[in-house]
Amino acid sequence: MVQSADLRQGNDLAVVGWLDGGHRRVPIGALKIGRIAESREPVCTNDLPGDPRIVDKEWVRREGLGSFAGYPLGFRSEVFGVLAMFARRALLEAEFERLGVFAAQAAVAIKNARLFDEVSRLSRRLEAENSYLKDEQRAELPAGIVGESAAIRRVLTDIERVAPTQSTVLLLGETGTGKELLANAVHEMSPRRSGPFVKVNCAAISPTLIESELFGHEKGSFTGALQRRVGRFELAHGGTLFLDEIGELPLEAQSKLLRVLQERELERVGGTKPITVDVRIVCATNRNLEVEVAEKRFRADLFYRLKVFTIHVPPLRERREDVPLLVYAFVRSLGNQLGHPLDRVDDTALLLLRTYDWPGNVRELHNVLERAAILARGRNIRPEDLPDLNSSSKPAGAAIQGALKQQVDSYERSLIAETLRQSDGNQSEAARRLHVTAPRCCTG
Ligand SMILES: Nc1ncnc2c1ncn2[C@@H]1O[C@H](COP(=O)(O)OP(=O)(O)O)[C@@H](O)[C@H]1O
Ligand SMILES: [Mg+2]
Repeated sequence: MVQSADLRQGNDLAVVGWLDGGHRRVPIGALKIGRIAESREPVCTNDLPGDPRIVDKEWVRREGLGSFAGYPLGFRSEVFGVLAMFARRALLEAEFERLGVFAAQAAVAIKNARLFDEVSRLSRRLEAENSYLKDEQRAELPAGIVGESAAIRRVLTDIERVAPTQSTVLLLGETGTGKELLANAVHEMSPRRSGPFVKVNCAAISPTLIESELFGHEKGSFTGALQRRVGRFELAHGGTLFLDEIGELPLEAQSKLLRVLQERELERVGGTKPITVDVRIVCATNRNLEVEVAEKRFRADLFYRLKVFTIHVPPLRERREDVPLLVYAFVRSLGNQLGHPLDRVDDTALLLLRTYDWPGNVRELHNVLERAAILARGRNIRPEDLPDLNSSSKPAGAAIQGALKQQVDSYERSLIAETLRQSDGNQSEAARRLHVTAPRCCTG
């Protein structure tokens, strides 16, 4: 007759005895087995009727019990149960010992099973956390995009929302604002990310060749078509086609593009058999397409087909708070490329960079820093490493003066506030400390 026991953790620590018996749960410290759990000492006795540790003498007599053996089940300092038995005959010393050996092995087996459970629970959690972190990373830093301004955050939120869909995305913004980088982010954050990302710069290809470039051509379809050629649309099958400078697309190619977008089918130039394509379109332009439509340079029906999801990428001068972040990111990577560490930018240099209007946006900033990185001495970008940044609409000199005044004003305000706090709000006391007259303080 063996009584298995189990100790639960928590405040109501208890020992489980018979699964259906009267002593199903025995508190620690109560009865024999509770006391074994508490003391962590085995109990072995061949004199049950005479043993003071046995409470229910009547039950012992009725059952004709002669002996009891109980061992704690534990590992190191942890006790998780008690193994105990009653017998009607006296037990030999060797039998007590064997039960002790069994208890020790059972304890190790229980501990193993628990550790195994714990390990699989932890590794499941780790997996979940990992995939969550990967998602986080993707969401936080798509494709090396730098910026923390509210303006760029809005753009990134839009991209996160639209990327997983099949929708056509139209990116509008001045040159150098990062439209291509963002088009790539749409692809990278979409289920098509393992497919190709194919770019066509509509402005860089001559109008006579653009159709063949987009849709391909059959051999001999026009003078110079010596070989059959697969177009960019077909190359992008299963992935994303980025049509850059879509505003420059000639009218004829526009109608063909519209047909492909509507039918998801194309014909190569000089070809006869339709080819099915599965392509997601992202396009970009720095032109005002509404004006282009009004002046009949851009097909209205194509415009409406493309502007399903439009994202306006703000110029850099409307998110100046991103300038320092971009500067440090560019300066570090330029330093790496040049093979010498570059990680500091003079305050004045930074102020110049922040206050310039950047008509060429992030691209221009990158170019300015590339030049500065070459000129730089040591780890530092100095004002003299920068070109004359006076060409902006607002003269940089005046802008710096404005920015300096802003900083001085803001410092003055915080100094006054702090002194007032230290003077418990007493204005004349604060004025005395600041060596100014009281009214100045009041207006602070
Ligand atoms: N937010 C940004 N973070 C990091 N690099 C940027 C960012 N925006 C633009 N760039 C970089 O500036 C340059 C111009 O960006 P690009 O995407 O080609 O602009 P666009 O297509 O609008 O003319 C590229 O080198 C690009 O990597
Ligand atoms: Mg571009």
